[in-house]
Amino acid sequence: MRFGVLGTGRITRRLVADLQSTPGASVTVLASRDAARAAWCGGQYGIARTVAGYEAVLGDPEVDAVYVALPPSLHADWAIRAAAAGKHVLCEKPLALDHAQALSIASACEAGGVRWLDATAWLHHQRTDAMLGFLRSGELGKLRHISAAMSFYNPFQAGDHRLDASLGGGCLLDIGWYTAGCAILAGGVPRRVFGETRVENGVVMRSMAMIWFDDDVTATIHCSFDAATRKWCEWAGEQASVICDDFSRPWADRPPRVWVHNRAGEVQSHSYEGSQERNMIAKLCSGDDLSGYHRQALRTQATLDAIARSSVSGTVETIQCE
Ligand SMILES: NC(=O)c1ccc[n+]([C@@H]2O[C@H](COP(=O)([O-])OP(=O)(O)OC[C@H]3O[C@@H](n4cnc5c(N)ncnc54)[C@H](OP(=O)(O)O)[C@@H]3O)[C@@H](O)[C@H]2O)c1
Repeated sequence: MRFGVLGTGRITRRLVADLQSTPGASVTVLASRDAARAAWCGGQYGIARTVAGYEAVLGDPEVDAVYVALPPSLHADWAIRAAAAGKHVLCEKPLALDHAQALSIASACEAGGVRWLDATAWLHHQRTDAMLGFLRSGELGKLRHISAAMSFYNPFQAGDHRLDASLGGGCLLDIGWYTAGCAILAGGVPRRVFGETRVENGVVMRSMAMIWFDDDVTATIHCSFDAATRKWCEWAGEQASVICDDFSRPWADRPPRVWVHNRAGEVQSHSYEGSQERNMIAKLCSGDDLSGYHRQALRTQATLDAIARSSVSGTVETIQCE
């Protein structure tokens, strides 16, 4: 799958090497709003073809897939345009600004006959498969409660899209995507939510929520831009709980681990290797069924919508998703 990349920001500079080193994937062209920036960024990765403006990528016959690495407010527009041009889509998280936009992306990809994934790489780590294995094998017993938290302390300079409401900024979309997604991966279809957000300059700086799933499973999630870096989760069952202190992206000190704590107080540590980004790219390039990832993304987006609604209404909100 030959990729065209839209945007030259931080995540582009992290993911391009993975696109270039995944078997079956390559990068044909890199686009920026600014020709000099495109050329500079392309030069860092040996990408000879760089263009000013994103439109040219969509008409490029040597591009099979578009990587949308832009601020969230631009995801739906460019993902839908890419699908209409017959290109597969790898779209950065959050997939869109809201559930309606996310559904539009899914529909456009279906209509265009193209594959799509949101770039939520942790879902593709071997460790995540193992965590689901503990849950599904019965080792944890009946699932009772999920907790997840993610934060960064005041991490962005003025001008960053995460601090700009018009670009889809705020921690709810930026990292609530991970905490809500973590709860949904274990809990299944989210039914109701009670959420709170703290908003500064139109941007959510802190959010917490309680989520109810079927079968008496509950979750509490927190995300913010005002606490030290955290990215942990716990899936608690009647027999044991699995705990991961860096589920969204492993800390630099390897190997990535999880801990299983059982009822007797015994703790087992498990470690895993592998690149979540390359696994994700390989899955998009393969013929694998992606519908489970699509459901996960749409449920996550619907949950974030409901948290935002609940924080305004002050009441428990129903989550509309399949
Ligand atoms: N999956 C992950 O682990 C992960 C990590 C970080 C970020 N992300 C996601 O990736 C997306 C981009 O994040 P980032 O950290 O790469 O952001 P960033 O550093 O701000 O880069 C965004 C890029 O988008 C382009 N752009 C187009 N219109 C823009 C506008 N009006 N304002 C600002 N930039 C604009 C710019 O590239 P040109 O001007 O060169 O066209 C800019 O470099 C976000 O959705 C974010 O949540 C994902």
